[in-house]
Amino acid sequence: MRFGLYALGLFHVFLHSRGAPLRHQTMKEFNRILVTAALPYANGPVHIGHLAGCYIPADIYVRYQRARKKDILFIGGSDEHGVPITIRAMKEGITPQQVVDKYHALIKKSFEQMFISFDIYSRTSNPVHHETAAGFFRKLYDDHVFEEKETEQYYDETAKTFLADRYITGTCPVCSNPNAFGDQCERCGSSLSPDQLIHPRSTLSDAVPVKRKTRHWYFPLQHYEIFLKEWILNGHTEWKNNVYGQCKSWLDNGLQPRAMTRDSNWGIPVPLPHAEGKVLYVWFDAPIGYISATRELTPKWADYWQQPDTKLVHFIGKDNIVFHCIIFPAMLKAHGHYVLPDNVPANEFLNIEGEKVSTSRNWAVWVHEYLEDFPGCEDVLRYVLCANAPETKDNDFTWKDFQDRNNSELVSIFGNFVNRTFVLMHKLSKGKVPVWHEKIRDEADTELIRQIEHTKITVENLLETYKFRDALYTIMDLARKGNKYLQDKEPWKKAGKETTAAADQEKIDNCLYLCLQLTANLSILINPFLPATSRKMLYMMKVVERMLDWEHAGKIDLLKTGYSLRAPELLFRKIEDEEIKKQMEKLHQNSVKPNTVVETAPPPPEKKPEIRFEDFDKMELRTGMILAAEKVAKTDKLLKLVVDLGFEKRTIVSGIALHFNAEDIIGRQVVVVANLAPRKMKGIESNGMILMAEDANGRLIFVAPDEKIRAGSEVR
Ligand code: 2FM
Ligand code: ZN
Repeated sequence: MRFGLYALGLFHVFLHSRGAPLRHQTMKEFNRILVTAALPYANGPVHIGHLAGCYIPADIYVRYQRARKKDILFIGGSDEHGVPITIRAMKEGITPQQVVDKYHALIKKSFEQMFISFDIYSRTSNPVHHETAAGFFRKLYDDHVFEEKETEQYYDETAKTFLADRYITGTCPVCSNPNAFGDQCERCGSSLSPDQLIHPRSTLSDAVPVKRKTRHWYFPLQHYEIFLKEWILNGHTEWKNNVYGQCKSWLDNGLQPRAMTRDSNWGIPVPLPHAEGKVLYVWFDAPIGYISATRELTPKWADYWQQPDTKLVHFIGKDNIVFHCIIFPAMLKAHGHYVLPDNVPANEFLNIEGEKVSTSRNWAVWVHEYLEDFPGCEDVLRYVLCANAPETKDNDFTWKDFQDRNNSELVSIFGNFVNRTFVLMHKLSKGKVPVWHEKIRDEADTELIRQIEHTKITVENLLETYKFRDALYTIMDLARKGNKYLQDKEPWKKAGKETTAAADQEKIDNCLYLCLQLTANLSILINPFLPATSRKMLYMMKVVERMLDWEHAGKIDLLKTGYSLRAPELLFRKIEDEEIKKQMEKLHQNSVKPNTVVETAPPPPEKKPEIRFEDFDKMELRTGMILAAEKVAKTDKLLKLVVDLGFEKRTIVSGIALHFNAEDIIGRQVVVVANLAPRKMKGIESNGMILMAEDANGRLIFVAPDEKIRAGSEVR
């Protein structure tokens, strides 16, 4: 392990502090880095949204820091507790242990094949984790951190289990949707508690649940509000907007105590007497999994977790922000011996072909299937998912874009430059690195050298600030510049004569020399992003892995004159239309399986009593247009819309966020129930309701006039 001072040293930088003028902030000095990537639930395989959301950015960051010879550990593993695993076990008729054994192995293999270079990929069913998590709980208990409370909760007597809100359904008291959930009605968007449901049923057995008393240990998050506000809102103004914004909204809304235990027989038993049938809440034990895995990896684990000069970085998807920025830091603070994260560069979601990923509908691109369908194209997927990463907002993966980026960026720009350089080297320089003739260096040479030096610094700055997409673009741009340089110089035109004039040969030499040095630079710069491609380049250049050390980037004497190179090999292959067509068919054919339809199809519609025309006429239906849309904080499903009704603008809260991205629906025509009494949802007053049609699979579609019409027109 290396413990030299590195990082950014003690120097001052200007940071943009939100809403305030630019201010000086002193950067902290770090001597080691600890990177974690969210532990995926071992209840299914990983899809490309997981890769884009957290594993690829984490791996790029780690590979880059390793190339800089930093002391860094990269921690991962499977999250093997929690209700989703017990439900999967029930559905498949196997034990939870069998579920996690199966998926842990599959997930681990997918990560390895995608070159996600964890130092350890562990799992939370390991004894070391049980011991670490139970010990952590016990310490907080002994320090009197928890509040013990008895409450009444719904219990399923058939499945013999208490039910999380999500696993109770019933009729919505607001809109009569017979399939509302215990936490929310997806039809009208109302936030609900299980008690409000009419005719509640258990989703596990369809039994009518009963109320039972139960005791749990609550973590008093509210006591950490002042600390968290200071630490995040003042102390971490540099965090990404999406992360900072979500934290601010949680903190502004006020924190509540959270139960850290559950009634279940799957999980880590609560380490207290008289706590039979109680386990640690999965979100209590999972983040401690990072600590356990580090313990498993190295006896020096405590340096990484407990020394203040450790830089801890959590890579996660946006649905995990509250757990990593608020709850886990509060737990660490309560414990008292641990460092807090320096950054949590969470990504947003990656949609597929314009629709949200749905594992239950099988609307996903599964990584293990991609690896089978595109062997040898791991770096292509890494490239596309980074070039199109949902770094600042949700993004869309389309197979067409995948093909375009491969064919017109990887093949035509990067691969083409490297290939032309090698082919020309063998044609015009006998496969040996030519001499550099400084005396005839021209402006184009100088500019290219400047670009090589400059790119290294730009990429460094971007990677240090977690802007992976821009960093990749900058590297591709350097390859583009290489192509242009080669095209302008046309060394092939000067050659090919019986005898090439000495002056011409010198020009050819300089051009090839620089193109080769640029190729060597590209292999270093692209290594964190496309490690297999980088190694292919090393092989062709006949150089050892050490050349990839970051300190070599920006230099133009990496390959010495006279050194002979191997014959070129293509770095990337073209992806054909036929392959893309197959993937599209696969996605659509597999997405709604017959049994999925049976599982999710609503029961025959409950007929409502007949109404008279006068009843219908009480409704004021009007056309409108969506002017603005944004997600409601702390909810998955609610969008806050501003709708133009012609004569006025309305705020309407609608439960459609699982089906549409806010930015995609701006400008849409809609039909609004304009005289619906105002209702408060998540503290926002909603004035009206948007009409949506729902198909048998629960997909929502806007009801709207089929041509453009003035906003506010009456619908009759
Ligand atoms: O959202 C998820 O998939 C969780 N299993 C992530 C856990 S991350 C960490 F806390 F372990
Ligand atoms: Zn409803």
